[in-house]
Amino acid sequence: MSNEEILKAVFPFLEGIDLVTCMLVCKQWREIAQDDYFWKCLCAKRWPSICKQASPPTLSYHKLFKTFYKRQHSKPFLPPRLSFNDLEFYIDMWAEENLIFSEVVPGPVLRKGTWTPPSGISDVLRYHLSSPDYKMTFPMQPRFNIPLGQSLSVSVLVSRKDSKKVACVINKSLFDYIDRSTYRAMAFDYLDFSPAHPFVSGIRAWISLLFMDHGNEGAIDVFGIELDFCDAANTEDQVLWLLDMLDWK
Ligand SMILES: *[C@@H]1O[C@H](CO)[C@@H](O)[C@H](O)[C@H]1NC(C)=O
Repeated sequence: MSNEEILKAVFPFLEGIDLVTCMLVCKQWREIAQDDYFWKCLCAKRWPSICKQASPPTLSYHKLFKTFYKRQHSKPFLPPRLSFNDLEFYIDMWAEENLIFSEVVPGPVLRKGTWTPPSGISDVLRYHLSSPDYKMTFPMQPRFNIPLGQSLSVSVLVSRKDSKKVACVINKSLFDYIDRSTYRAMAFDYLDFSPAHPFVSGIRAWISLLFMDHGNEGAIDVFGIELDFCDAANTEDQVLWLLDMLDWK
């Protein structure tokens, strides 16, 4: 038997992943393994009904197998249509009904990594802030104390300059989770998406107060604010795409 005949006899018995590996061996193996017959054998094992048709439903069985054998993970993202330069965030906070914080934060300020957190913050928080999850943060200047034991609420609107529209990110949610072990007080709200995306739901915007704990039972010393959409968006482009999908009015 020639080399080629041996390969042709063996290839039909291989699993897909092994056939793919064989294609990397050399040009001759690659050319032989490209024969759609082998891929038809693999498709027939995975989706027997597909091979009842005379011809493959895509260009080739090879393509079909390659595409659907495994979930495609890293789908490339097109460049977002929105940019942080176009955005402004309106952040307001209340303790009971008293306004305790009210700022317009420009998009480029909120975007990741444009400030250094103060010295003296906990290691837990330092580790959290340097983790790769995409989060938008900005410093509280001057730092201020937030009373505990009162209900703290927050609202966030975002405006875009390109279309002169506004969307709601957080609609008066409570900071009902103040975690003294991670030094964060957290609130969330579900995002409202444009009717152009009717089946998207369940994605939250999270806002956290980053604080230092001086052992004071009654108050926390807040030095920064974090906004993230880690349920769904973990890079800057993903965040911009997500914001673009909101119900802009
Ligand atoms: C915000 O919350 C209030 C009270 O729950 C509700 O009446 C209102 O419709 C909400 N607004 C938006 C834009 O979701």
